[in-house]
Amino acid sequence: MEILDGKKAAQAIKDELKMEVAQLAVEGKKIPHLAAILVGNNGASETYVAAKVKACDEVGFKSTLVRFEADIPSVKLLEKVQELNNDPDVDGILVQLPLPKHIRERDVIDAIDPDKDVDGFHPVNIGKMLQGLPSFVPATPHGIMLLLEHFKVETKGKHAVVVGRSNIVGRPMSILLSSNSNPGNCTVTICHSHTQNLKELCLQADIIVAALGKPEFVTADMVKEGAVVVDVGITRLEDSTRKSGFKLKGDVQFDTVAPKCSWITPVPGGVGPMTIAALMKNTFVSCKMKN
Ligand code: GUN
Repeated sequence: MEILDGKKAAQAIKDELKMEVAQLAVEGKKIPHLAAILVGNNGASETYVAAKVKACDEVGFKSTLVRFEADIPSVKLLEKVQELNNDPDVDGILVQLPLPKHIRERDVIDAIDPDKDVDGFHPVNIGKMLQGLPSFVPATPHGIMLLLEHFKVETKGKHAVVVGRSNIVGRPMSILLSSNSNPGNCTVTICHSHTQNLKELCLQADIIVAALGKPEFVTADMVKEGAVVVDVGITRLEDSTRKSGFKLKGDVQFDTVAPKCSWITPVPGGVGPMTIAALMKNTFVSCKMKN
């Protein structure tokens, strides 16, 4: 069993970006600028946004963090998105999800200029990705593809089972794995809460991507010997023995599943850092398109 070390792969991507940004600076060109919007004070969202801003610092990007109270009227948030759309210095805009219930996420995502939608959630980008056209690919599935590429995991002709059909991970993941690319060229099965024979399908999988948000859902009896297992879950579970008060659990029962795998991602240190590296890559591409 080998570890798909997301920390290591993400560092390699960030190191490369850092050099490219330094080169842009030498040439007197514009430096990438990511604007992140955080609404409310959800603990996990705070952590993710802080990690994104820190990554910008590491690679030499400019970043702006815009914070709003949880009760901000939707129209104010939409105004801010418009302002960032119109700001020529801003290359990438991300609105951290989830948003408070009174705000329709769809409206906010739709308001982002597709050319600045580095999260790749806008219907224009999803449509382009579906057709294999150049687009911003959602950061988590993009990061997983970069991780498979980094460790040269063979995907061609493999049966991939994606557990979870969210717009952020499961669905785009299924499209990317089935696309005519490397990594890619998988035969993909997408499973969800109404799938009847989930265990049997998982047992047939050469590659499992677990993205349903249920801690330790995938157990050893669901995994074929030699499978590649990618764990997207990062649920916070209470743990009073830790300073933070919680521990992170993936969707895969790592200790029992890992011995059966050819490759497996750890949690933390697997998909999480790759999501951020992919976001940095998207922001860099957005800036280059303007340069
Ligand atoms: N919430 C969970 N994942 C993501 C992500 O990739 N981007 C944003 N904006 N919000 C998220």
